Amino acid sequence: MSKHFGAGNDPLHIRLDEFSAPLFQALLAYQRLAPVRFHMPGHKGGPGYPLEVAEAFRRHMFGMDVTETRGLDNLHVPSGVIRDAQALAARTFGADHTFFLTNGTTAGVHAMIMTTCKEGQKIVIPRDAHLSVIGGVILAGLVPVFVYPTIDPEWGISVGIPLEEYERALKEHPDAKACLITRPNYYGMAWDLKPLVKLCHDHGIPLLVDEAHGAHLHLHEDLPLSAVDMGADMVVQSTHKTLGSFTGSSMLHLVGNRIPPDRVQRMLAILQSTSPSYLLMTSLDIAATVVRMRGHQLMEKALELSARARKRLAEVEGVRVLDRPGMDRLKLTVSMVNRGIAGYELKSKLMDEYNVRVELADFENVVAFITYADTVETVDALVDAIKGLSEQGDRGVRARVHAGDQARFTSALFAPAERALLPRQATLAAHELIKLSQAEGRVCAEVVAPYPPGIPLLYPGEVIDSEHLDVIDTALSLGAAFRGLAAGSDGGLVVTVVKDVKR
Ligand SMILES: Cc1ncc(COP(=O)(O)O)c(C=O)c1O
Repeated sequence: MSKHFGAGNDPLHIRLDEFSAPLFQALLAYQRLAPVRFHMPGHKGGPGYPLEVAEAFRRHMFGMDVTETRGLDNLHVPSGVIRDAQALAARTFGADHTFFLTNGTTAGVHAMIMTTCKEGQKIVIPRDAHLSVIGGVILAGLVPVFVYPTIDPEWGISVGIPLEEYERALKEHPDAKACLITRPNYYGMAWDLKPLVKLCHDHGIPLLVDEAHGAHLHLHEDLPLSAVDMGADMVVQSTHKTLGSFTGSSMLHLVGNRIPPDRVQRMLAILQSTSPSYLLMTSLDIAATVVRMRGHQLMEKALELSARARKRLAEVEGVRVLDRPGMDRLKLTVSMVNRGIAGYELKSKLMDEYNVRVELADFENVVAFITYADTVETVDALVDAIKGLSEQGDRGVRARVHAGDQARFTSALFAPAERALLPRQATLAAHELIKLSQAEGRVCAEVVAPYPPGIPLLYPGEVIDSEHLDVIDTALSLGAAFRGLAAGSDGGLVVTVVKDVKR
């Protein structure tokens, strides 16, 4: 610890219990509650770090929060320790070139899009992409060409975009400049990308992969292959989600020689802060080094924990756990709809009654993220909580949520919509806030998306129709939260639409 923090050197004289900074107090309260964490970040509050490293990091945290000063390099023109750390990370994750990101995978998605496409050009993107993708489309002023996912009828989730969808899109739009895909998805669904890599390269265009949920995939043979290993040209990974770095820190990997690294560096200099956090950067360096030294062993442990949870949950009445060939089994998707508990309700009950927090809920399911920072104790706490809820008996909420609701919702969520304006035009146009109930026929100016996972129902420039309003109504009544909808002065919801444009 710095000498300035020694006892007797507290010039401010403010006691902790008087220090009413709202966010700080909320985080302290969260610490006191000490929930069992099955949400991001992957370090789960610390156990993802080797003890001595964690101790040194903790001790020097204030001192390490620095700016570009001698010996510490510069993220935007790396020629010293940042260049070296990035080169080691590239080796660790199998890439030819790696960039550290301090504005999350979101910045990496934007950089992939801005590196490969110019204003007015077309890009092929999944309808079930994360909203960072449409952000990139808006920033670059592109024309999105949508490809549509296949939906698992039993679980109601996207199981990926079939190759034929990309073939169709490229046949209809041979002038597209890049294809982007999200894989794995939030639920850990993964599939072979090699045919898509070949399709893109045969068309002379790059494949960009949003691998936000796959930073760990390269590390173990029982995990799906990483897009880096399958030859995708640009791959962005949220190191903070599944490995040990801090929230907001990610990596962008380049593979092969289709993408000039200097162009990526230029885009990142526009998209990222000129004061990138050294704490985030060093957390990336540490996370990469941890898995370079122990990656296989740590993933083995995490996979064993997942197998343990799956085995125990298989014995609990009324509980189903998603299991599909080739998926990432560290994502534990659990449904208790057959026990009368809807997904959003299950998430709340785990939190309120058992102090267990999962990452995501949808109508029917919750998703828990298992990482190498978990232990037998944490995984058993999750299973015991689910078991406890099952033993409380049937809640009989089937009147509100039926098996199959999720599939119906997902199909409606990913359905094509009428486009009146391009996303950038709609975003930059004059706008007004109107009541959602009066929005039919109006053109959306902002993404409307249930969050998490943040997959848009409506993209800017699309016409709001009655089915969209029904989907929103149903989702809200079952506990979903939406980005792009706000509470109006009378308590009803309002939405941002383009002024003076009606259908
Ligand atoms: C599929 C997907 N892509 C991109 C992102 C954005 O990642 P980040 O939060 O690191 O900016 C997320 C975040 O949840 C995501 O789920």
